[in-house]
Order: sequence, then C-alpha cells, then structure tokens
Amino acid sequence: MGAFAVQIAKACGATVTGVGSGKHRDFAISIGASEFINYEQQDFAELDQRWDVVFDAAGKSSYGEAKHVLKSGGSYVSTEPSLRGLFMPLATLPLERRGKVMLARPRGDDLRELMQLYAAENLHACVERVFPLEEAAEAHRWIEAQGFCGKLVLKVGS
Ligand SMILES: NC(=O)c1ccc[n+]([C@@H]2O[C@H](COP(=O)([O-])OP(=O)(O)OC[C@H]3O[C@@H](n4cnc5c(N)ncnc54)[C@H](OP(=O)(O)O)[C@@H]3O)[C@@H](O)[C@H]2O)c1
Repeated sequence: MGAFAVQIAKACGATVTGVGSGKHRDFAISIGASEFINYEQQDFAELDQRWDVVFDAAGKSSYGEAKHVLKSGGSYVSTEPSLRGLFMPLATLPLERRGKVMLARPRGDDLRELMQLYAAENLHACVERVFPLEEAAEAHRWIEAQGFCGKLVLKVGS
C-alpha cells in the first residue's frame, strides 16, 4: 500500500518522505519520495522535522507517537481498522492535530482517477514476481516472509 501512497501523494503535489527498511531506500526514491527514513536506524517520530500528514501504510505507529512530528493543523492517518483506531477520529476532533482512519472502499470515481494517473505514467504497479497459479502456495509463503517491494501476480493459464 505504501508504494501507491507515495506515488499518489506525489502526483497530488506533495513532497513525500518515505519510511521503510534500508534496502528499500532506492525503491522509495525511484517512485517519488524526496527523502527517506530508514526505520531500522531512525524513528521518524523522534525527529525535529514536521509534516502536514503522517500516513501510516504499515500499521506500525500510533497517533500518540506521530502527533509530535505533525505541523499545527496536520493529520495522522492510520490504515489499521483497530478498535483504538476507530475511536481516534472522535477523540482527536477538538485537537489541533487530528487522527483519522482510512479504509479502502471500491468507488468508480476513485478508480477512474487512478486510471488517469496510470495513463499519465504517474502511477506504476510494481510487480516483484509472477507466479503460475499452481505455485499459489509459494506466493503465499513469500507474502508471509515479506521483505519485497510491490505486488506478486498469480498467472492463470500459459
Ligand atoms: N485500511 C485499509 O483499507 C487497508 C487495506 C489494505 C491493507 N491495510 C493494512 O495496511 C498495512 C500494509 O499492507 P500492505 O499490503 O501494504 O503490506 P506489505 O506489502 O506487507 O507492506 C508493509 C510495509 O510496511 C513496511 N514496514 C514494516 N515495518 C515498518 C515500520 N516499523 N515502519 C515503517 N514501515 C514499516 C515494510 O517495509 P520494509 O519491507 O522496507 O520493511 C513494508 O513495505 C497492513 O497492516 C494492512 O492491514 C489496510
């Protein structure tokens, strides 16, 4: 999800700081991040830098941590539909720095917008590997092991 978030934010005119493990620095820069923070060496929530939006596409942070690096009027966006996450928008409503939860919903207008970004070559689906359907179990093992960029594709037929 993070790879799409970086590209969409960049296409919308944002300056993006990517967060990931060190081996993914070049990948994040190649898809549009201007800066990169290696979470193995540095905690973004402890930096002096300030951002308008912290978008957690990995479900690894919290509003409590991220609020320290949000600019006034900024937002923390979680993609984790946890119980705590569901209370966050209400609990932070009166605050200067808000917390929100983003849940993906299939909507035609959104998909059309993504298609336009794709046609304009501003959005790429990064495919790590294509598996024949009969190797679906191996593809699942890859997903469980993690550590790769982008998507795995299952190919049906020859
Ligand atoms: N809200 C929704 O509608 C929705 C929809 C789909 C998924 N999700 C949630 O979104 C999350 C990501 O899904 P995904 O399919 O994109 O998973 P994914 O392909 O496995 O990607 C997870 C990413 O998290 C990064 N990561 C791991 N530890 C991190 C840390 N401490 N700080 C920053 N980044 C870290 C990994 O980077 P490295 O490989 O470099 O370590 C990896 O790129 C999941 O938690 C899933 O539950 C939400």
